Amino acid sequence: MSAAADRLALAPMAGLTGSAFRRLIRWIGGCGTVYTEFVSSAALIRHSDRSRRLLRFEDDERPIFCQIFGADAYAMAESARIVESLGADGVDINAGCPVPKVVKQNAGAAMLRDPGLCSSIFTRVVKSVSIPVSLKMRAGLGEAEACFRIGRIAQESGICRLTLHPRTASQGYGGRADWSLIARLKSELTVPVFGNGDVTTAEQAVELLTATGADGVMIGRGAVANPTIFAETSALLDGGSPSVPDRGSILRKYMLLLMGEENPFDALNHFKQFTAYFTKGVTGGAEFRRAVNTSHDLEEISPLVEALFVGAHQHSSA
Ligand SMILES: Cc1cc2nc3c(=O)[nH]c(=O)nc-3n(C[C@H](O)[C@H](O)[C@H](O)COP(=O)(O)O)c2cc1C
Repeated sequence: MSAAADRLALAPMAGLTGSAFRRLIRWIGGCGTVYTEFVSSAALIRHSDRSRRLLRFEDDERPIFCQIFGADAYAMAESARIVESLGADGVDINAGCPVPKVVKQNAGAAMLRDPGLCSSIFTRVVKSVSIPVSLKMRAGLGEAEACFRIGRIAQESGICRLTLHPRTASQGYGGRADWSLIARLKSELTVPVFGNGDVTTAEQAVELLTATGADGVMIGRGAVANPTIFAETSALLDGGSPSVPDRGSILRKYMLLLMGEENPFDALNHFKQFTAYFTKGVTGGAEFRRAVNTSHDLEEISPLVEALFVGAHQHSSA
């Protein structure tokens, strides 16, 4: 993997970045680390089948970090051990999820208001495993100062990498990610800092790196809309020109990868979520999404995939 790719990461996104999607990203190339969707530590230590399924990955996805969430230090440390036993390259702690169900448990972004809880979770998780532990956080729950306090605690606890999505939880996905917070976090700490938020093109990825001084950039929604973004960014950083598959080939490949998944229900749902981003602006996209959303299995959708990109790589306002 090139040094440029090492600076790029695929964001964890529930319902989107399952094993098949991560393998799609690997097939296209240019990405350093990929992350699993978040997994509840409470469910994981109860041996929930669904949680185990979310952590399943193939060797060709490496390097891969598995993301866990929770507010109980024991459950988080035990979950980190499970992640290590599954052979993951690292474990990531979620301190960013703004969803009420998670925040109510004092987990996700709610952790950011409790430095004591963060310190005990980070310390126990780091001590419980020998693989690297990283942290992904929002700027704060309601105020954007929290990330600086928590970032320092993370660094002191032995966390190896911080990723900041610089919005508060109360902002949801509104407004713009405030990249100046990434620059400040980077300037205050020595641990590597990755910036995240609103990167949708290779040029913007390079702009984030340049503007903030961050060690790397993590890309989420922009990688679902455009899975070639890592290859394009790597090429831009390396000064080369990327060789990437066309969108029809990407859609076909993703469909094949999903058809090989063991749980057809999850696979169909991942495809539905994916098409919402990937076919936005594509001629015939709205019609395609309607058909996909009412389908009951991937076999049914396969001929529609073939039809969507035949003879066209057109974009409209669909
Ligand atoms: C549908 C969806 C699911 C997400 N799931 C997770 C998750 O499981 N864990 C996490 O840390 N962040 C999650 N996020 C947040 C993203 O990782 C990322 O921080 C956010 O989308 C901003 O980056 P972007 O502008 O590149 O998408 C999710 C975001 C979306 C849109």
